[in-house]
Formats: sequence, structure tokens, C-alpha cells
Amino acid sequence: MQYDASLFPKLIAHAKEHGFVFQSSEIYDGLSAVYDYGPLGVLLKNNLRELWWKSMVQLHANIVGLDAAILMHPTVWKASGHVDAFSDPLIDNKDSKRRYRADQLIEDHIAKLLDKARKDTEKKFKKEGREDVPADEFQRRMGGDRNAQKATEIQARFEAALGASDWPGLRTLIEEADIVDPDTGSRNWTDVRQFNLMFRTQLGAMAEGASDVYLRPETAQGIFVNFLNVQRSQRLKLPFGIAQVGKAFRNEIVARQFIFRMREFEQMELQFFIKPGTQREWFDYWRETRLRWHHKLGLAPARLHLHPHTKLAHYADAAVDIEFEFPFGFKELEGIHSRTDYDLSRHEEFSGKKLRYFDPDTNESFVPYVVETSVGLDRCFLTHLCNAYSEEPAPTADGEEALRTVLKLHPLVAPIKAAILPLVNKDGMPEIAEKLRRELATDFMVVGEDKDTIGRRYRRMDAKGVPFCVTIDSQTLADETVTLRHRDTMAQERIALSQVHSVLQSALSPKAFFAE
Ligand code: GAP
Repeated sequence: MQYDASLFPKLIAHAKEHGFVFQSSEIYDGLSAVYDYGPLGVLLKNNLRELWWKSMVQLHANIVGLDAAILMHPTVWKASGHVDAFSDPLIDNKDSKRRYRADQLIEDHIAKLLDKARKDTEKKFKKEGREDVPADEFQRRMGGDRNAQKATEIQARFEAALGASDWPGLRTLIEEADIVDPDTGSRNWTDVRQFNLMFRTQLGAMAEGASDVYLRPETAQGIFVNFLNVQRSQRLKLPFGIAQVGKAFRNEIVARQFIFRMREFEQMELQFFIKPGTQREWFDYWRETRLRWHHKLGLAPARLHLHPHTKLAHYADAAVDIEFEFPFGFKELEGIHSRTDYDLSRHEEFSGKKLRYFDPDTNESFVPYVVETSVGLDRCFLTHLCNAYSEEPAPTADGEEALRTVLKLHPLVAPIKAAILPLVNKDGMPEIAEKLRRELATDFMVVGEDKDTIGRRYRRMDAKGVPFCVTIDSQTLADETVTLRHRDTMAQERIALSQVHSVLQSALSPKAFFAE
């Protein structure tokens, strides 16, 4: 299944119109790649954060939480490798004055060549009257296509240049592959240079004597430097995990896909400390556990896949991305990394302090290995919006066909769980609705709404992703029943007013979600 990419601008407009996401400082023309969450956005984000926290900390006896500060000692970032290596290759176009990531320009070019090759191969088979060609035969024939061969050659040169940090080589490749500015078609490029993504600021009131510190680019290091504090204070035995949710900051070179790539964002990270030699088993466990978590929250399995890394970061002995099919293609949602003992060993080296685990069973002391799971909260949010957004035909009250926009969010993720709607503003209906709203509000995020026709109110609730509408009408006055409307099917059923709470409770119970 392929996304309809034309829905993406509509989804961005929808997110603003209904109070999910706003551009930061919009009245000043905005701050690039920085966003604010509106009334519905903050609810949805809180739900995702809470579901992650419960899944990780509450349900695992051997995982505890942490909330480390954003500012850390500057040597942390030397030890972690971020000062020397947390950078992207940057290139400017001299005519358009636009800035790009050189690696992304090349990757996009390769993707275009492969896409062309795929389409040309499809055409050739079609001409021969063959539609359902076996995948391996298709790949073989596509491999002979001129554009596919070009893509393979560029890919090999790209990997070699990147592996050797050969920035002039990347620039030559961009020129020789005839890669142009995607916006203007210009070929007038600057040299490629390295750009460190960390935001730098100063600690202390006086500029003199103040020291440079960084806004953390990942939450992980706060966990590593607190490894012994947490392990000793909680008397933890291996294997155990430390989980953290918090802000991270990256001065991204290119950030043009709404909240996909932000300069200020939130990460939900787990560092799971294990005995050396057991990393493969735990890596597999966390990959499957995290993939299942996304499936269980309703992300379409066809839109999720695993992308194992073939080229590993210097600290990792295995890595895999859980990718989601965004409207702009399959992209990373979450990373699972087997980080060996790299981080703790580096902090031992740079701090001069021992960061070891004493195993009481063997009387040995050693630096544990780590398996990390790291997912962006904002990216998870975008994934759910993309997965849920749909436009579909829906008959109006007078029987005409109309289009409804609906967010088919998982009920546990949905910001508002139910809307309580008096059919008309008289005969005591608003009072019954308000009483019910107040009763439900202690347990669920519910709203009341009495403006407009009931049909329009249903559409508005669909657009906000509200899974249930409860309507108080004249029959309620007669027999104390209400209409319960289901968002996804638009089906309506009659239930007792006194049953509304228990119906919502069972539909919104996290028990089934958390049960393994
Ligand atoms: N501690 C490991 C780490 O930070 P990463 O792959 O750089 O690894 C992990 O980031 C996750 O954080 C990504 O999978 C993504 O969900 C999220 N993320 C990274 N950069 C982001 C950005 N600029 N905007 C939004 N989310 C981002």
C-alpha cells in the first residue's frame, strides 16, 4: 500500500485547524523546525508518553526511571563523541542560497534513479503482457536498467566517500552525478563542510570565565553518567534498565517535513544494562518488543518495517531502525542499538571514575554492555497522525454523499475520549449532558458541545479523533437511554445512561493493550 502523498499538506493544515500543532512564534513568521503543541496535541502527546512509560517502567520490575538535566558537563559530550563526530556534511547552493545535507542530496538522487528504473521495468513487462512478475525476476531485469546501474555505481562511491570522511569526494560525486538544486535546478555548489549539530550556550552570568555548555542532543548520556547512582540507590542487579523521557536539541541542517525533523524535540529512551555476551539475545528481545508496541497501538503492519543497519556506528555491534511509511517514504521512527560497553568505558576514561558493576554471584566487576531503544515522541505523534488521517465518503442527514475527515486514532492515543452532546438546547437536555460530562470527567478526558446541528458536531468530533459521541435526546427524557456513536464505523446504538461510564471504561481499558 502506498500513501497518498497529497494528503500530507492537508494533514498539516488539519493539525493546525484543530489545535494539535502550531508553528512556534507564528505571529513573527515562525521559527524554523520548532513547533508548539495545542490543546489537543498536548493531550495526544501526554497519552503516548504515558503509554511508553507504563510499558517500560511500570510493567518491567527491572526498569526504573530517571529525569536528568538538559545541561550537562561539557566533557560528557567529548566522551560520548558528539563534539568530534556529531555532524552532518553540509553544502550550499550559491544561486538559490539554500542549504542542503550533501548525503541527503545524493540519497534522494539514488532513490529517483531507482524509481525511474522500476517504472521503466514495469512498462517493459506490461508491453510483453506480463503483470504479475515474480519479485526475483523483476529485480534481475531491473538490475540491467541503465538508471539502476547508475544508482549502484553512485551508491558505492557515496559509501566509500562517507566512510573515509572524504568531503571533497562527496562534492565531486554531486557534480559528476549531475545533482541539481531540487528547488531551482542550479548546479552552482559550494564545497562540502562538516556542521556540528549541537546547540552551544554559556554557563554563568559573565561572558568571561563562563564555560561553553551544550543543549543535550540525546537523553541517553544523562542515563550513562548516572549509571552507578541509579544502580546503587535502587540495589539493581543485571540485567536492568533505566528509562527517560525528555527534550533533546539538534541544529538540523535541513528540517522541512513538519514535525518529522525538529530542532527541539522529545526522546523516549531506554538503556538496558546487561552482561557482556548476552547482547544478541537482548537486542532481539527489544526489537520485537518495540515493534509489537507500535503494532498494538494500531499502526498498520504494512506501514512498519525493520531496517537493519549494514554500516554500524563505531560504538555499536548491531543496530536496526523501526521504519514507518510516512507520506514522504519509509523513514526511521525508532532505533534499537546494541551499544556494547562503549559509553560507560568512555565516561570511565574521561572522568577517571570507575563505572563498573560488581557481580555478587561471580565476585567479578566489569563494565556492562547496553542495548538501547530510542524513539522520538514527536515522531511517534506524527506517525499516529499519518496513520489515522483519512478522508472518506459519508452520507449527510439528507442522504447526500459528502466527504468526512476522520482521525482514526487508537482510543488510548486519542486526545479526547468522548463528546457528550445534547441534541437540542432545551427540555433539560443540556443539564443532563453537563451532569454526565462532570461524572465522566474524573476518569476520562471528555468534552461537551452544544453548538450546531448534531451532524456537524459528529463531523467535528471525527476530525478531532474522538472515538465516542454520546447524544442526549428526547428519548433520554422518556427512558434514560442515550445514543452511543462509534467514530470509525459511524454505527449508533442505544444504551442506558447509567451504562455510559462502564462502556467507556471497558473500551478504554489499557489492560488488553498492556497484556502480553
Ligand atoms: N540515543 C540514540 C539516538 O539519539 P537517534 O537515531 O539519533 O539515536 C533516536 O535518535 C530517535 O529520536 C529517532 O529514531 C527519532 O525518532 C528521534 N529523532 C532524532 N532526531 C530527531 C529530530 N531532529 N526531530 C524529531 N525526532 C528526532
